Amino acid sequence: MKIKALIFDLDGVIVDTAKYHYLAWKELADELGFFFSKTDNEKLKGVSRMRSLDILLEVGKVELEYDVKLQLAAKKNERYVGMVKKMPADEILPGVLSVLKAAKEKGYKIALGSASKNAMTILNQINISDLFDAIIDGNKVSNAKPDPEVFLMGANELNVKPQNCVVFEDAAAGVEAAHNGKMFCIGIGTKENLAEADIVIPSFENFTINDFEKIISR
Ligand code: BG6
Ligand code: MG
Repeated sequence: MKIKALIFDLDGVIVDTAKYHYLAWKELADELGFFFSKTDNEKLKGVSRMRSLDILLEVGKVELEYDVKLQLAAKKNERYVGMVKKMPADEILPGVLSVLKAAKEKGYKIALGSASKNAMTILNQINISDLFDAIIDGNKVSNAKPDPEVFLMGANELNVKPQNCVVFEDAAAGVEAAHNGKMFCIGIGTKENLAEADIVIPSFENFTINDFEKIISR
């Protein structure tokens, strides 16, 4: 593999925003009168905002009109953004910053490939937006993961062929999206959750650019 670019998912890879998504969704579930557990929240990882709301409503066995759903999603997002804007910069996950900087120094191009419409807010909050050569987020794409659009758009903006890109993903739908785009995918998490990934690492903690180069030279 001649790897020229690294494409990072955001939520769960660069920063653990799942806890804020959970608090905001749970508040909504509480108001609608049902319990939304942390286990239920696992189903929302990598999933778009509206699909997340549908999953939440399925859990509570609640059926609502589309315009009501839009209002609820907006309410949840307002609360979520309120929390994210208070997030300190040191919430960037351990090891991520050093991998990003080392990859840049070695001449790899770096892109973000995220489903989130709040990606810019989050990157600015943790002060890393300048490290990216391309930022593709939920505002730019029309097809959610596992569709490969977000990663293909990233490769295209970097002017790198998909087969020369490596994707870092923490969600099964994202791994599938990378493969649908013919990209090698490194899963961040557990083999049980990311069985389809080409290789899985638990996190970026103690992971170096040399480890990365060993993986891609296999
Ligand atoms: C993904 C998250 O990155 O973005 C999902 O894993 C989230 O949990 C999705 O629903 C959309 O995010 P946002 O910030 O646009 O609501
Ligand atoms: Mg993710």
